[in-house]
Amino acid sequence: MLIIKDISNLQLYLTAYENRKYSIGFVPTMGALHKGHGELIKKSKNDNHKTIVSIFVNEKQFNSKEDFNSYPRNKGLDYDFCSDNDVDLIFEPSAEEIYNKDETILKNTNFNNILCDKYRKGHFDGVITVLNKLFSIVNCNKVYFGEKDFQQLKIIEKFIKEKYKFLEIVSVPTKRNEEGIAYSSRNEKLSKKQIQDFVSFHQQTVNFLKSLEKSFDIETANQRAKDFIMEQNIEKLDYFEFRNNDDLTTNGRVSDSRLFYAIYKGNVRLIDNLKV
Ligand code: PAF
Repeated sequence: MLIIKDISNLQLYLTAYENRKYSIGFVPTMGALHKGHGELIKKSKNDNHKTIVSIFVNEKQFNSKEDFNSYPRNKGLDYDFCSDNDVDLIFEPSAEEIYNKDETILKNTNFNNILCDKYRKGHFDGVITVLNKLFSIVNCNKVYFGEKDFQQLKIIEKFIKEKYKFLEIVSVPTKRNEEGIAYSSRNEKLSKKQIQDFVSFHQQTVNFLKSLEKSFDIETANQRAKDFIMEQNIEKLDYFEFRNNDDLTTNGRVSDSRLFYAIYKGNVRLIDNLKV
């Protein structure tokens, strides 16, 4: 497995494989790799000749310096994880390698003012800005993202359709542990007790979903969701609501929707979405 930190060496590698008409799969990450990333890597390895994983904690998508500084970083473990998963190349650039001093931040105009965009202003601007950079550096055929960050996935799908027409985006279902919670880098920041509470909240949410009348429209389901969440012991909540799978509006039947939530345990923000 190769570890490359600068763009020029990465491009030498890519040119060699382009000439041989190899297909390249790309998994962009911010490190702190876990089984969720493992699923993306597995899919990419299955679909392509070579798989590249980038590790870059992108400051431009964090809302505070504190959140950026405390984001889990597991360099050595990440290398082992990639090697165990037969990744061909890790691209691990510095911020200087990626951004110019006066970098222009792209403005996301899709699926905004709802869900995470409503509570993390500018977050998705940072996400598409770094992906724009990475896609222009890592000339790949397919790129892989998880459904756990569903709004991010939808925004990137649109962005790729508008700007990178020849790039194929592949979405991968959320990987969950045996208790049902989604693997996430932020889970590492939870105490044992917080994990137990989170598992219990998640399981009650799953039961609520099972008990919900599938013929409801989304607006009615959202009334029920409000009643349910009021009874839960949540320290802080950004949203807990159903939205349509396709356009993330609250139009249509609940059977075509997902339940999205963002809650806090201590100062750790946890998001998930469950397909109805
Ligand atoms: O989902 C993530 O880990 C990040 O938002 C991404 C897509 C790697 C961009 O920094």
